[in-house]
Amino acid sequence: MTKKALIGAGMALAFMVQPIQQSYATDSIGEIRQVDNVAHRGAAGYAPENTMAAFDKAMEMKADYIEIDVQRSKDGELVVIHDHTVDRTTDGTGYIKDLTFDQIRELDAGSFKGEEFKGEKVPTFEEVLDTYHGKIGILIELKSPELYPGMEEQVAEELKERKLDQPQNEKTILQSFNFESMKKMDELLPKVPIGVLTSSKLDTTPEALKEFAQYADYFNPSYSLVTEDLVDQVHAEGMQISSWTVRSPETAEFLLKMNVDAIISDYPDYVDPRH
Ligand code: G3P
Ligand code: CA
Repeated sequence: MTKKALIGAGMALAFMVQPIQQSYATDSIGEIRQVDNVAHRGAAGYAPENTMAAFDKAMEMKADYIEIDVQRSKDGELVVIHDHTVDRTTDGTGYIKDLTFDQIRELDAGSFKGEEFKGEKVPTFEEVLDTYHGKIGILIELKSPELYPGMEEQVAEELKERKLDQPQNEKTILQSFNFESMKKMDELLPKVPIGVLTSSKLDTTPEALKEFAQYADYFNPSYSLVTEDLVDQVHAEGMQISSWTVRSPETAEFLLKMNVDAIISDYPDYVDPRH
């Protein structure tokens, strides 16, 4: 993704010509910057997380990206679900890695959020790519890839098949808490932006940031780690910063003030109150 900084004098014009769904922050030297609005697990505040209903809601709310969590069934299907088990978000039980795709697909992944979502299914990675690429950005988290050997190659294949590994497809981003996995993804798909996720302060040292910048384009910390100084350091290393998980208007306001590049929220309207 290119950085979209708009400077002082062009400010008024920029507001007139930019699509209205974009959110902005003003940094300490008076630059106006677009902030990407990322719908966490889809618009998870309003619809069952990681389902087509949540991704449709994110589109309807004009988010810039959906964030999805990818794991793998016992028989090798990449599926979109957050927890290691199906227990919390479906009417079934068991680990994703121990269930076949047919067993996972039978489950109701909507009712936990409300009766009106009954019948939502756990989506496949393929169907999310096919349904949404080109319509909204996709921030793809490899969830615990250490549990799924060879997952990186499998994800890379799916992106290549759809030509989402090409530089013009800058609205596809990969991220993970597993740094080795992201190094591997950078080797497999050198043109796809890579993000590292962390909630550990140990990963915010100058040395750590320098190391991440060797292969990552995004440093994506939990919001409790974010300071103006950290944002400046990440930018100085040539990376962008996306922070998570916003579940209150105050947190969105804090991150806009901190001048991050993207905000990952269950509630896209907290990041951009116009929606
Ligand atoms: O995109 C950031 C966020 O998704 C990381 O945490 O646990 O919600 O996957 P988690
Ligand atoms: Ca995630």
